[in-house]
Amino acid sequence: MDLGLKGKVAIITGGAKGIGRGCSEILAQEGANLVINYRSDPENAEKVAKELRETCGVEVITVQGDASLPETVDKIFDEAIKKYGTIDILVNNAGGGGVKKNFEDLTYEEWKRVLNNNINGQFLMCRKMIEYWKGLGRGGHIVNVVAKCCVISNSINNQAYASAKGALLSLTRSLANEVTKYGIYVNGINPGYVMTERVHRPGSERYIQKLPLLPTGEFATPQDMGNVVAFLCSPQACQMIGTVVDCTGGTLL
Ligand SMILES: NC(=O)c1ccc[n+]([C@@H]2O[C@H](COP(=O)([O-])OP(=O)(O)OC[C@H]3O[C@@H](n4cnc5c(N)ncnc54)[C@H](OP(=O)(O)O)[C@@H]3O)[C@@H](O)[C@H]2O)c1
Repeated sequence: MDLGLKGKVAIITGGAKGIGRGCSEILAQEGANLVINYRSDPENAEKVAKELRETCGVEVITVQGDASLPETVDKIFDEAIKKYGTIDILVNNAGGGGVKKNFEDLTYEEWKRVLNNNINGQFLMCRKMIEYWKGLGRGGHIVNVVAKCCVISNSINNQAYASAKGALLSLTRSLANEVTKYGIYVNGINPGYVMTERVHRPGSERYIQKLPLLPTGEFATPQDMGNVVAFLCSPQACQMIGTVVDCTGGTLL
């Protein structure tokens, strides 16, 4: 199926590692030009960009910065416009960094840090894109990367992360309700257990613990997530509005 993404411009926050990298890869394979935001490890970001330019024949720029900060949001936007003159897609992937503690031990500073990384930055990115698209009288696509803990509380001692992802789920729905009339599509994905270097590295304790819980007997790959994200950005997904697609591999059944 041709997803019609050739020549589109996509921003992927945290797009050089893990699920973000999977999204970058699939969008590039579909012919989209990329703006990959990364926070640390510039060598890795440049390596990913070079690889995608060479293998997919698309253009890729990288923009360093913490995507939860207003100045980074402005920088990502400005660099994208400077390079491509337009933006079609935002994948709000950056996030994570939950604090696993009993609720009574969680400090207010920790609570704010997790919310900052998992909902405040996403709010800023969405607002920037919506202002831009509405100002031009044109549409676009936003995909928010949520998490299953916002629909099932099996992530014990992870209250700040679950709360932030729950807020992101609600933002996805309420925003879709408000901006679909402008041709702006807002959806999300709900990853389950995805094999990434940080979270479920093959052979790690967490990997070994979680493997028996997976109905398919396998972890999802970042590319599995990228495939759903790319579909959500396509005209074929025109009836998917405010949807957060369950990509949890049957682990919620
Ligand atoms: N893996 C899973 O099973 C799973 C399940 C549910 C939801 N998720 C969600 O999926 C998204 C990606 O997670 P992942 O597992 O792929 O994590 P990952 O392997 O750690 O990759 C996340 C990337 O995003 C970057 N990042 C995080 N916060 C950022 C920020 N504020 N600004 C810029 N970059 C930032 C990280 O940068 P650094 O390298 O500097 O840390 C890292 O490169 C997150 O929103 C997470 O909550 C993951």
